[in-house]
Parts: sequence; C-alpha cells; structure tokens
Amino acid sequence: MEDVISQIKEKFKSQLFGAQNLKELEVVEQIYFSRKSGKITELMQGLKDVPDEQKKAKGQLINELKDEMLQQFEMKRSDLKKKEYKETVEAERIDVTQPNLPAHKSGHLHPITIVQNQLEDLFTSMGFQIEDGPELESEYYNFTALNIPESHPARDMQDTFYIKNHPGWVMRTHTSSMQVRTMQDNKPPMKVIMPGRCYRNEATDARHEHTFFQLEGFVIDEKISLANMKGILELVAKNLYGPDTRVRLRPKFYPFVEPGVNGEVACFLCKSKGCRVCKHTGWLEIFGAGMIHPNVLEAGAIDSKKYQGFAFGFGLDRLVMLKYGVEDIRHFQGGDIRFLTQF
Ligand code: PHE
Repeated sequence: MEDVISQIKEKFKSQLFGAQNLKELEVVEQIYFSRKSGKITELMQGLKDVPDEQKKAKGQLINELKDEMLQQFEMKRSDLKKKEYKETVEAERIDVTQPNLPAHKSGHLHPITIVQNQLEDLFTSMGFQIEDGPELESEYYNFTALNIPESHPARDMQDTFYIKNHPGWVMRTHTSSMQVRTMQDNKPPMKVIMPGRCYRNEATDARHEHTFFQLEGFVIDEKISLANMKGILELVAKNLYGPDTRVRLRPKFYPFVEPGVNGEVACFLCKSKGCRVCKHTGWLEIFGAGMIHPNVLEAGAIDSKKYQGFAFGFGLDRLVMLKYGVEDIRHFQGGDIRFLTQF
C-alpha cells in the first residue's frame, strides 16, 4: 500500500509540474480527484479488501495523501491563473511611451469643390434648390431643347465629344443641359442651381481644358426682369471677391437666352488698371447669362406668356483660378499632389 501511495505521489507531482495551463490542469484533476474514477477514489475503494485491523491506519494514510495532493494542486492552480491573467493583460497592453508613428495624412477638398460649396451655401441661403444631372447627355437636352438648331456650329465635332455607336448622345458641353430637365420636373416659381462637370473637345492650353466645371442656375416666376438677374449676380460676385466688386454686363449671343449677356467683374488684381490676367482690359469674364428664351420655357412645359426667368452659368474653374491665382487650368485635372496640397 505504501508503495502504491508513493507511486501515485510521484506520478501526480510530475503531471502537476508538466501542466502548462488551466486546461491541462483540469485533466490532472480528473485523473486524481474525480469522485467516480479518480485515483484517490480507487484507493478508497481498495480499502474493502484490507483486513479490518489495518483499515483505520490505511484510511488515514489515504486521507493524508489526498490532503497533501490537494494542497499542491491548489497552489499550482493559483500559479497558472496568475500566469494566464498576466498573459492577457500583456497582450492588451498599450505602450503609452512608444514614440508617435508617422500619422496618415487625411485628404482634403479639391479647390473647385471648395468654391462650389461656398456658392452652394450662398445660393441655398437665398432659397435656391440644388439639382444634379447626367454628364452623358442627349443631344436634345444639350442642344435642341436650348434653341440650338441642328446646324449650329456649337454642335460641331470640334467642340463636342460624341459617343461612338450611340448617335444622339454627347458628353454635356455645359450645365445648361439641366435647364429643360429641371423645368420639366418642377413647377414655377423655381429657383435652382445645377453645378457639375462638363466636357469639350478642346485643344487644351492654360485657359482651356477638355473637362471643366460650371455652376448653372435659373429663376422662373411671374414678373422676373433683367434687373432681378443683375441683383443676384452682383451679390454672387461680391460674395466671391469682396463687397467693393463691380459687375459689368455686356450683350452676348447665346441661343437659349434673349437678351443674353456676358458678365464681368472689375479686375481685382490690378484694380482695373489692366494686367496680364485681365488681358489689359481691366475686366474679367466670369459668367454668361440672360433672360430665358421663350422656346426654352416652352420645351420645359412652362407657359412663356405667363412666366419669365433668367439663367446664368459660371465657369467654376475660372472663379477658382482668380480666387487662388492659379495660372494654368490644367492643374485642376492633373492630379499633381504638389499642386493639390496647397489648398
Ligand atoms: N451655357 C453657357 C456656356 O457654357 C453659359 C450660359 C448659361 C449662358 C446660362 C447663358 C445662360 O457658355
């Protein structure tokens, strides 16, 4: 019996020592302390074959063994618990003393978006709604509905990207393509702006780009006059270039307005004295505008006898170039990070 006990003791010790974690310890617990089939239980059951006079002493031996083993077991258990806790804490630990890693640079808005947002804020503050529309456009909305007949030079292949194998479709050459679309979807009175990307088949240079941005707008109601138009456009110019900005309107032909004007602001770079940017005229062209042609109102299902309106279109790229002193329009689409990070 004593032999068996010391054998169990040794085996138990080595298994206990070998347990690397609480899971492995559980296995050891099963082997020795399971009530049903553990080694201690086995020993206890073996007592029934022991002669009566020895039973008490042997029983005592087994109990002492059991107490000793349990004590060792609990010590090991608390050691492993501490170890596992330390490991989890270690894994979740954040080293606050670690030097700063190079931060990810977050992106920022493109200069055209900055100015577009500024104008959207201004127009919505005056009660305008904002409409978005397709860049791939039918010839109808881009030209025909805008009183531009089929033979008009603006439709020439030189100016426009036509879509191969899809006759009648073009990349819109201006945001005016949204005029009739918006009229058809709404009822007067209307105050709308329609900013967006446009395309022209340009031979590109410092002032011309095949992809550019415009901000279109119109107001339609009863009793709308050229004076209303001037008032609004002056306000926009002052918002962009300061309260002393002067605006000049000069007649210009656009098939979809009558009368049509070309809007200029006094050159704020040279105070109208004449410089390279204003081509020594003292004025900078920033928009086209005019009273909406009755044919266009009718195409938009609006009674041209009852309603009038004015429309305008700003070249956003030009506004941005003037605001930030950008000398070449091609920077905007160029994607050069050295240019973009300046804004
Ligand atoms: N769509 C014209 C252009 O691209 C600008 C314009 C808009 C003119 C609205 C008059 C009225 O040049």
